[in-house]
Amino acid sequence: MPPVITNIEDLRQLARKRVPRAIFDYVDRGSYDELTLRANKADLDAIALRQRVAINVEHRSTATTLLGEPARMPVAIAPTGLTGLNWGDGEMLAARAAERFGVPFTLSTMSICSIEDVASVVQRPFWFQLYVMRDRGFAASLIERAKAARCSALVLTLDLQIQGQRHRDIKNGLSVPPRLTLANLLDIASKPAWALRVLGGRRKTFGNLEGHVRGADSLSTLSQWIAGQFDPTLSWADVEWVRGLWGGKLILKGILDAEDARLAAAAGCDAIVVSNHGGRQLDGALSSIRALPEIADAVGDRTELLFDGGVRSGQDVLKAVALGARGCMIGRAFLYGLGAMGEAGVTRVLEILRNELDVSMALTGTRDILEASPALLRLPGETARGAGPVRRVA
Ligand code: FNR
Repeated sequence: MPPVITNIEDLRQLARKRVPRAIFDYVDRGSYDELTLRANKADLDAIALRQRVAINVEHRSTATTLLGEPARMPVAIAPTGLTGLNWGDGEMLAARAAERFGVPFTLSTMSICSIEDVASVVQRPFWFQLYVMRDRGFAASLIERAKAARCSALVLTLDLQIQGQRHRDIKNGLSVPPRLTLANLLDIASKPAWALRVLGGRRKTFGNLEGHVRGADSLSTLSQWIAGQFDPTLSWADVEWVRGLWGGKLILKGILDAEDARLAAAAGCDAIVVSNHGGRQLDGALSSIRALPEIADAVGDRTELLFDGGVRSGQDVLKAVALGARGCMIGRAFLYGLGAMGEAGVTRVLEILRNELDVSMALTGTRDILEASPALLRLPGETARGAGPVRRVA
């Protein structure tokens, strides 16, 4: 009997069974004590939606635009590294699922499938995410390749000048260089369907980097090169340099502070992604949803705001949009779908989120997602709107 899938957690459980442990943990876990990873979800959960009744909600629309592009709902696929290790040709499949569903797809610099691979399977332009590495010539060549592939936006990630540590990856041997432990081998041997799909995929290493580093073309040698390439000197001058080279729509990703949001807006970007990298970088950082209102106040009228971190349901999407985000990016949610069921799993994730969003809109009396505002919510500690925090009676 195939398992009955009703929500994102079901797909997570299925992915856990089908994908080798080291890859599943790479997706699932966060940095250090995982405080920020947990806070991303807990702080979304702590916001209440206001239930409203007797409002005619027969006709509803989740449709919007993201960076001027029509989207069937305010969701985009986030850039994630090594996606093609969850399922062979994973990035191509996810891009196709996103295109068919009608939401943007973002390809990571650290993908398995290359920019050109993804461009070959979709008609709708996708977004490309860039890490500016020490090798500036490489960044420049990626920008040119993204232009040639007709990418419609460049997502420049700013919160990875140095890598946070995920303890679980080290214990699993997913380190630099990778260690093949006996436990890993046994685990992989118990997942032959996964192995066949990944081995049958077009590529097995970082597709965008193949051929770039002399003598390094395996996952192991290239990850060593990458580890030495993250650049702590990255500054706003580099953002300006990228903007000049790219010339198209620019999204700055990894902004969590209102002060940085102002600098980002002043740098002339088209959007920012309020993000802490899904709790994979600075552990102890504010959850994304707690950072969002302040950033919306600071720059919401000057630049489009995207949001990510902890989105696992349509209710989460509604909360983020109500707090000022134009749309949400989803990282782990789509990866669980991909690891569980390939392209069909990504489509399932998008369907689940849209259905949940649609029903939550109806039950909060929201006909059009473009009308969502903070009035839909009760924030933690709030009673009636405007009444301020609840006073505790001793
Ligand atoms: C990421 N993220 C990420 N971001 C980025 O800009 N470039 C990248 O290569 C990656 N790689 C990556 C791998 C994996 C496995 C995950 C889970 C995440 C961060 C990603 O774009 C996004 O910010 C978070 O995933 C959002 O949080 P949720 O939706 O996973 O909770």
